[in-house]
Amino acid sequence: MTMKTSLSANPSAFETECLAVLVLDRSEKGGDDRVKPQPAIESSDPAVLEAAAAVLASGDVTGKMFETTFLHAPAKLKAKRLLLVGGGKAKTFSNADLRRVAGAAARAVKAKNIRSFAFVAPPSSLPAELAVRTIVEGVYIADFDSDTYKSDRKDQSLQSVSVLSAGDPGKLQAAIEEGRILGDSLNYTRELVNEPSNRMTPTILAERARKMAAEVGLKCEIYGADKIKEMKMGAFWGVAQGSDEPPALIVLRYEPADVVGPVLGLVGKGVTFDTGGISIKPADGMEKMKYDMAGGATMLGAMRAIALLKPKRKVICIVCATENMPSGKAQKPGDIQIAMSGKAIEIINTDAEGRLILADGLHYARQLGCQELIDAATLTGAVVVALGAVNAGVFCNNDALYDRFLKAQTTAGEKMWRLPVDEEYRESIRSNIADIINSGGRQGGAITAAMFLKEFVDDTPWIHLDIAGTTWIEDSKPWIAKGPSGIALRSIVEFARS
Ligand code: BES
Ligand code: MN
Ligand code: ZN
Repeated sequence: MTMKTSLSANPSAFETECLAVLVLDRSEKGGDDRVKPQPAIESSDPAVLEAAAAVLASGDVTGKMFETTFLHAPAKLKAKRLLLVGGGKAKTFSNADLRRVAGAAARAVKAKNIRSFAFVAPPSSLPAELAVRTIVEGVYIADFDSDTYKSDRKDQSLQSVSVLSAGDPGKLQAAIEEGRILGDSLNYTRELVNEPSNRMTPTILAERARKMAAEVGLKCEIYGADKIKEMKMGAFWGVAQGSDEPPALIVLRYEPADVVGPVLGLVGKGVTFDTGGISIKPADGMEKMKYDMAGGATMLGAMRAIALLKPKRKVICIVCATENMPSGKAQKPGDIQIAMSGKAIEIINTDAEGRLILADGLHYARQLGCQELIDAATLTGAVVVALGAVNAGVFCNNDALYDRFLKAQTTAGEKMWRLPVDEEYRESIRSNIADIINSGGRQGGAITAAMFLKEFVDDTPWIHLDIAGTTWIEDSKPWIAKGPSGIALRSIVEFARS
């Protein structure tokens, strides 16, 4: 995708294929169809208001969320079309809504084969810089499509997008740049997640990480099976040993000159295909397990954004990349693996492999000096049962850290919900013959998986993000295509900058 983003302050004088403006419903009562909507254009430009006046008066435009109306050759505007895009009730309109509405405008424009447009930043969304950054993010999110392997695919990606806003031009330009970095990094992650496992092996993932690191100036080390065994990462190797594809341990470092705050560790699950191993999965839906490396891809994309946004914080990223395969060399239920930390794990189910590789990834991150940890993983089907495809699961062993993360997550506008990790759940992962078992059974499956990880972080403040239900969108939405969502990246980057 190539996209130019530029800034301008004067909507009616702006020459464009399509000028998009937000319409909000100013009627007071919520949710009742009998309340007459009061659609209002979010712009103070008299020519824009005049161009939209008739259709607003007609009642055809209500301002409801994601409603799109194209008007052609609007008088007194330099634009060829005016697009009115609904944002719902003015009273509850949030920054997260603005991101989605900008995305819905972009996808409506793309669907008409228009390749460039301009979006008028709503004057009521303050501060203006945040609104501008949010719009740019929304457009980048919307521009991604996952059908890269269709041979008759028409590339419909946007060529140029302008954001029209009043304000300090220097600050606004910086906001555009931030939005572009986040959007590009998000789509980098989504491209990795979208690749099938034959085109995204651990080795290929590591090469992609190396290339990206060189481009943005991150230190990069990649280790193979020998080093994994030498470092006694028995839990990671236990998963990797069953595959003919060699595993990769990817380590990226962002080390700025002036540093404030603790060293942040980002650990990602990079299972490039999860068959379940000897505890093999049913055939139905197994193709989805190509996205079991989404946590790892999220951390790589987050590091890309961090390298370009340059927060004053040291960040180390660890991605454990492997396949989970059944074979004559594969680990079997009942096997005991000794993790890098020294803990003995009884393997009950070889399909609970994510927690095994993360156990060693988290321990290694602490050994490298990380003082705060975030991991992201498509870890459990149980989190999908608990929270569906709407919220990602958040687990945290430290309330002060959780409060900081929640702030970042709210700014990023990503939906997540906290689940508990209190000691009473530990009972479920007790083993009779080793320190712990790797599968706590059906009850509270997302929690017992998190309890397993908790064994390997000790008292280091830690956040675990279970993105199994939210990383892949099954049906396209007005603001985003079906396929990889890139969930968690923007919250993590926001956290690293805070
Ligand atoms: N990768 C899966 C979890 C998953 C499920 C991701 C659905 C995305 C969508 C994970 O490795 C897994 O297989 N978990 C098992 C754990 C169980 C054996 C304790 C699960 O959730 O069934
Ligand atoms: Mn599995
Ligand atoms: Zn898995």
